[in-house]
Amino acid sequence: MNPGFFEGPLGEGMIRIAREKGLVDTAIIPIRDFATDRYGTTDDTPYGGGAGMVMKVDTIVAAHGHALKLAQGLTARTLVTTPQGRTLTQDWARELAGGEHLVLVCGRYKGIDERAIWALQAEEVSIGDYVLSGGEPAALVILDALARLQPGVLGDAESAEADSFSEALLDAPVYTRPDDFRGQKVPEVLLRGNHEEIRRWRRREALRRTRERRPDLLSGRNMSEEDRKLLNEIEEEAGS
Ligand code: ADE
Repeated sequence: MNPGFFEGPLGEGMIRIAREKGLVDTAIIPIRDFATDRYGTTDDTPYGGGAGMVMKVDTIVAAHGHALKLAQGLTARTLVTTPQGRTLTQDWARELAGGEHLVLVCGRYKGIDERAIWALQAEEVSIGDYVLSGGEPAALVILDALARLQPGVLGDAESAEADSFSEALLDAPVYTRPDDFRGQKVPEVLLRGNHEEIRRWRRREALRRTRERRPDLLSGRNMSEEDRKLLNEIEEEAGS
């Protein structure tokens, strides 16, 4: 793992704000520092052969022990980043954000010795169905998703609540000035200022988008009377 990887991102945006407010504390622990030989070896060839290198269990366990020491007795939960993991969702992010302390182990592409998962009592987490060359970008994604959920990080406490996925629906489209860009106009309803009309339009567009782009989010969902009605209208429009 290259600790320099994190310098920029931790010093920018939402994570920087969270750190400056003292709401999130981070420590980067280079696994290489815990190598047991004088060459700083952190990986080795896989038993049974095959391509790629596997991260060594002893090194990871030693680095993890150090991370726990830094946690100073807080309850720590350990995640290992891997495409084989459970996919991170907003629900899981919320659960993790509510916990005390998190140790994120950045796996490399080929993976870490399976015994480390057990030794660390770790959960395996994926950020999506694609393969990164290392777990570092995944760790940053996870950190960002959790940092913004810490109370006090977002200026407006409600904005995390109103996010798409807090409710498992995609967001409606948004617009700002000008109201006419090369003939493309902002929907009239947003200019009229009737709050109830706008709320209903946004709900309808959120449902429309979700139906078109992520129908999986709608199946099995408990619908309010209003949502059912709006969806019926959308389906009728689409069918006509
Ligand atoms: N490491 C490589 N690919 C990954 C992914 N999709 N999620 C988490 N860790 C990874």
